[in-house]
Amino acid sequence: MSEPEGHHFTAGPPQGEIAPSGGREPHAVGKRGGHIHWPAEAIWEAVYPLLPTFSVEVLPEVDSTNSELMRRARAGQLDPVLLVAERQTAGRGRLGRSWNSGVPTTDARANTIPTLTFSLGMPLVPLDWSGLSLAVGLSIVESLHPELKLKWPNDVWLQDRKLAGILIETVSVADQRYAVMGVGINIAVPDAQGLRTAPAGLRELLPEMDAPAVLGRVVPALVQAIQRFVEHGFAPLRTPFHARDLLYGRELQCSDGMVGVARGVDATGALLLHTGDGLKKITSAEVSVRPLAPPASAAELP
Ligand code: BTN
Repeated sequence: MSEPEGHHFTAGPPQGEIAPSGGREPHAVGKRGGHIHWPAEAIWEAVYPLLPTFSVEVLPEVDSTNSELMRRARAGQLDPVLLVAERQTAGRGRLGRSWNSGVPTTDARANTIPTLTFSLGMPLVPLDWSGLSLAVGLSIVESLHPELKLKWPNDVWLQDRKLAGILIETVSVADQRYAVMGVGINIAVPDAQGLRTAPAGLRELLPEMDAPAVLGRVVPALVQAIQRFVEHGFAPLRTPFHARDLLYGRELQCSDGMVGVARGVDATGALLLHTGDGLKKITSAEVSVRPLAPPASAAELP
């Protein structure tokens, strides 16, 4: 795979050196992506004390930030990196779906890009991988707005409409496992034309936000959340997850046909489903769930 073409902007430790613990400026090469000013240096400054070889890279276009980091990891590039794309030509979603990051919009305030797309890649050695995708989703909603909810395992919803999606992939290289955590967040309010369920945009809640500001808000907190997950696993996040659980108390249908009432998640992040056959645990990332009933009243929430 050749280098993606076009202008790009990076911030990171000087090439060929190992970052010391402080007091250095990041190097910057290339041009900024188009007319958009990305807070690459500010993010790098916030993250490098936690991840000394961390770098930030912004590309005007790539097929998919996840695909690009997976290719790089397979080629042996295992340093932690934040890769942002102003446009993806082949964005990918969960369960083999595509992710359309160039959603046309009629939102007149969308003077930058309508959808923020980025991937964070880093080698991880967690005690237990289960619940990582929930931990990532939780960090994103907690960084953004109290009204945002999570639809298990990690879709971000506003009221009953999807606002953001997360795709986590891993690759083993030599004795390391590299995780690529891809996030797509609708900033502008997307057009609903041709879609079964209208999506949501962050500007419905935060009219002044644009993609660079959202990136600066979510990434440092996300790195910290991942590091806490590596150390402590999902169990301490169970209660905070329940506070954001869109599905709790609702009747669901799983893509494998199972129907039941959602009862939150267990300490590993598995979905608990109260069915006619008793309480079932849904762990497979290959299962998607769909609410059948309207939201539960506040009194039913845990
Ligand atoms: C989903 O909702 O199914 C997950 C969508 C994930 C989209 C993001 S955008 C950045 C990264 N690159 C991709 O190709 N996918 C993820």
